[in-house]
Amino acid sequence: MSLSSCLCCPLCMHSLTASDKSVRCSNGHCFDRAKQGYYNLLPVQQKRSRDPGDDAAMVAGRREFLDQNHYQPLSEAINTLLISHLLESQQPLQLLDCGSGEGYYSTRLEQQLDQRQIAHQLIGVDISKHAVRAACRRSPNVNWIVASGSKLPVMESSQDALLCLFAPLSSAAFHRVLRPDGLLLLATTGSDHLLELRQQIYPEVRRNVFDPLPDLSALFEPIEQKIVRYQFSLNNSRSILQLLAMTPHQWRTDADARQRLQLLHQLDLSVDINLQLLRARS
Ligand SMILES: C[S@@+](CC[C@H](N)C(=O)[O-])C[C@H]1O[C@@H](n2cnc3c(N)ncnc32)[C@H](O)[C@@H]1O
Ligand SMILES: [Zn+2]
Repeated sequence: MSLSSCLCCPLCMHSLTASDKSVRCSNGHCFDRAKQGYYNLLPVQQKRSRDPGDDAAMVAGRREFLDQNHYQPLSEAINTLLISHLLESQQPLQLLDCGSGEGYYSTRLEQQLDQRQIAHQLIGVDISKHAVRAACRRSPNVNWIVASGSKLPVMESSQDALLCLFAPLSSAAFHRVLRPDGLLLLATTGSDHLLELRQQIYPEVRRNVFDPLPDLSALFEPIEQKIVRYQFSLNNSRSILQLLAMTPHQWRTDADARQRLQLLHQLDLSVDINLQLLRARS
């Protein structure tokens, strides 16, 4: 399946045909390929703000932090879990990473599939054009798209698996693009995730976690869960603040806590991530 035959028009949902440097639907809606190599399939009507999603500074901070590879074991756990369940599927695999950010996890998945000679086509979707532009610099082998995860411009039942890693969930949109029995892999944070960072910010740390399953259970059945736990250390305040900026705690950190973090030169941290693999109900 070519990329254009997986994609559909974000305005009328008709299929798209590729020409030289653009894709076009039968109603004449046309979308050019950006010079960086991505398609912008986010029409202005679907934008809730002028510049939705992560901004340029957030993307740059995330890139610099992820490039230190503290989350490499997590990326490997994601790849192992997904690939072990896809080996029996017919190839080439059609995969989509929704809310792919600056592309760290999608690129590592693509490289792993390539190394294992598993034929695939991977689409990375993010609503932030800054994130997608950065992702284009990470890999030319992933098909990067600016689009909304809740209105995915992707053909119905076209994908074998979809990843949603720390990004907004859109249960109905994910179910629509997955083939019957297609897989959904979610990454969410557990109660100990970055506990030591949270202890620096809050007088009392809340241990409750977001459980995505209730919102998904009508359309998806859980098939496997894996908890990824390990420790890592940061030894400069720049990385500590970059990590903070990747989390929702960023918005809740007051001036005193921020100053404490700025003065910190060493922080040992816990990773506690819940990977859930679900199957689309038919
Ligand atoms: C916490 S970041 C995670 C990025 C990446 N998955 C990672 O773990 O590095 C969440 C991402 O979701 C994107 N995002 C937010 N709302 C979105 C939406 N409605 N559709 C698609 N992407 C969205 C943001 O721009 C951001 O890149
Ligand atoms: Zn159209």
